[in-house]
Amino acid sequence: MNNKINELLRRVEEFAPQSAAALEEFRVKILGKKGELNALLEEFRSVAPEHKRELGQKINALKTAATERINLFRERFEAAAAPASSAGDMTRTGCAEELGSRHPISVVRNQIVDIFARLGYTVAEGPEIEDDRHVFSALNFPPEHPARDMQDTFFIEKNPDILLRTHTSSIQVRTMERQKPPIRVICPGRVFRNEAISYRAHCIFHQVEGLYIDKGVSFADMKQSILYFAKEMFGEQAVIRMRPSYFPFTEPSAEVDVSCNLCGGKGCNVCKGTGWLEIMGCGMVDPNVLEANGIDHKEYSGFAFGMGVERIAMLKYGVKDLRLYFENDVRFLHQFDSAL
Ligand code: PHE
Repeated sequence: MNNKINELLRRVEEFAPQSAAALEEFRVKILGKKGELNALLEEFRSVAPEHKRELGQKINALKTAATERINLFRERFEAAAAPASSAGDMTRTGCAEELGSRHPISVVRNQIVDIFARLGYTVAEGPEIEDDRHVFSALNFPPEHPARDMQDTFFIEKNPDILLRTHTSSIQVRTMERQKPPIRVICPGRVFRNEAISYRAHCIFHQVEGLYIDKGVSFADMKQSILYFAKEMFGEQAVIRMRPSYFPFTEPSAEVDVSCNLCGGKGCNVCKGTGWLEIMGCGMVDPNVLEANGIDHKEYSGFAFGMGVERIAMLKYGVKDLRLYFENDVRFLHQFDSAL
């Protein structure tokens, strides 16, 4: 009897089923009503009283070992089967994932970049934290120019000046430092100006600026490129006009207006009765800027332009309050095309 118990204990300890079915078969064989353990207990009855105590304890230990081993494998098989069972109730009502939409500023920025990409412009990017040279000096800003003033610029450090860029023209400087003409880049990015936040101004906004430098680039090239842009952005009926203006880095400089697409030029409250909407600044790159960046102004000429993305988005979508673009209210954001 002792040998039988030992033999069964060894089988229990070595038992390692590959499937739940094999486990169940083993359980019935050992612990079932007509199983081997019960057969042992039957035999136990006729054991001599002096051996009963020792053999009884051994049978109990065997039963515990068998039960524990069976439970161990049962848990393993159940755990392995769990993912399938938690796929769960196929009749439960589905809960739809809500898809986000692209931010209108991104949509418009991508459209602008896309239009100029068709004219051969490639995207250039640069840092938001800049030094005086890239934002001002290399762009022909005189030392006392008001744009350097504390009121407009967020300075991080003074002497030497470290600041948040006030326009993405800084990227144009970085491009000229890196690359010989021909240069044709479009520079999208976030810019910072120390302005009180209102429905029509914000201290953070987005710009796309462009720079084209090659031999023999003329004002007419600039005008035609901007007209192409205006028609692509606002529709075939759009026309532009240019008004003389001033920027330190361009000469001559102009402000560009596009015909109001809401009233078709007749005058409405968006264009304040004028029929025109201002969309960007532009001009022929000042020879001082070319020279400050190592480009021979006798050999090369070029034009630059810059626009505010929020402003273009406002005109395109008729949104009058700039602050809406920064609040990230999904009810607002969901209204815009997410195709681009
Ligand atoms: N940098 C100018 C601005 O921030 C825009 C501009 C760019 C004007 C290039 C002319 C030429 O307002």
